[in-house]
Amino acid sequence: MSVKIGTINTVVISSPKVAKEALHKNDQALSNRLVPESVQALSHDKYSIIFMPISPKWKTLRKICATKIFSSQQLDSTQALRLKKLKELVVYLQENCRKGKAIDIGEVAFTISLNSISSTLFSIDLASFTSDSSQKFRDIVSSMLIDASKPNIADYYPVLRRIDPQGAQRRMKNHYQKLLTLFESIIKDRSNRMKDFTTERSDVLDSFLDIIQKENPELTLHDVLHLFLDLFVAGTDTSSATVEWAMAELLQNPKKMKKIREELQQVINKDEGPKDLDINKLPYLQAVVKETLRLHPSAPILVHKSISDVDLCGFRVPKDTQVLVNVWSMGRDSSIWTDPDVFLPERFLECGEIFRGEDFGFIPFGAGRRMCPGVPFAHRVVHTMLATLLYHFDWKLPDGEKIEDMDMTEKFGITMHKIKPLMTIPVKS
Ligand code: HEM
Repeated sequence: MSVKIGTINTVVISSPKVAKEALHKNDQALSNRLVPESVQALSHDKYSIIFMPISPKWKTLRKICATKIFSSQQLDSTQALRLKKLKELVVYLQENCRKGKAIDIGEVAFTISLNSISSTLFSIDLASFTSDSSQKFRDIVSSMLIDASKPNIADYYPVLRRIDPQGAQRRMKNHYQKLLTLFESIIKDRSNRMKDFTTERSDVLDSFLDIIQKENPELTLHDVLHLFLDLFVAGTDTSSATVEWAMAELLQNPKKMKKIREELQQVINKDEGPKDLDINKLPYLQAVVKETLRLHPSAPILVHKSISDVDLCGFRVPKDTQVLVNVWSMGRDSSIWTDPDVFLPERFLECGEIFRGEDFGFIPFGAGRRMCPGVPFAHRVVHTMLATLLYHFDWKLPDGEKIEDMDMTEKFGITMHKIKPLMTIPVKS
């Protein structure tokens, strides 16, 4: 499908065959992104790993992410910090369990995702379950995602850009500033402490500061600040939305909830609780996460752009066309999936590792060179968080609510949420 609005030509891809042509065969021509006007606030697009064009700088950022943050060795070394967050989650849930109080799963999952990233990068928490700091951060992230995805007339008619008619860039500047100021203060604080102590370099922030302080640094302070901004925005909402959808589907399917809980009881060590190393021993848990991402991909549309004319299965896509890959519709396509609207984790039990973006009917993390660099991190955080929620507790809906009345409507955006937040009560098992 092709649509032209104002000066922007858009092509929508909804079949695995064409998606493969676009993201595999024509990867080089189609791996840039069309940058919305709003995102250009504070020149974020010039520093952003998400928005900058394929370039030596982008490759450096991807390489640094892969080696300094998301390598197995690095993730193993930060595991203890994330496990601590999960233990705190259990204590918080136990309290609500005693009171019989319903909790907002999306909110709790956001707090854990946020603290998992902040403890992995900086060895500190940015939020707690009992303060409103997490909600404030979540508000900033969701406002950013709304402002980046809302139709903006200035994107379609560039002559309007100077006046920012919908105020999108002004609002975005404000959101960016809040997070950049926070990261800057964390970095300043760490640099000051490093002057006082000659400590061994230990966490991600330390190794980034090491790079910045080199004579010809691959990264400047500015690059690092904007990279942190991207990692928090790309990593928090996606991971927490996935956990919320998984819990909603399991509540609607009590037999599958029972099955996953039984698997967890067999595998998890009672004294330690779920940890990263357990994931490989939990095939049903993995299948549940995959099935959740098929039905509710937290990033439902891939947004790319052509940098030259491209031929896609006989269709000509002109240079500078916005190319959208509809991951959501491919996940529900009845020519690819049997009973596409049914939540059936069993369909993934025999598939093994398929998050590499090679099966183009199922690409929740994208494919090709722009594929999500956070997959190894998301894999650990989403599985261990879901396992923790389900290993320690059974779950029920608040009094008076019935499974069949649960509202599973999706709210489309850069991240796809439940329109009605999932409220559910932890029950002692
Ligand atoms: C369930 C969780 C997640 C999902 C479903 C997801 C999905 C995606 C998708 C679909 C893309 C775009 C790929 C493309 O354009 O072809 C992407 C890009 C990206 N993701 Fe994720 N993601 C998740 C978690 C994370 C986490 C935890 C992080 C980091 C902490 C992260 C960081 C990024 C970054 C930086 C990009 C931009 C890469 C680039 O443009 O080069 N994501 N993600």
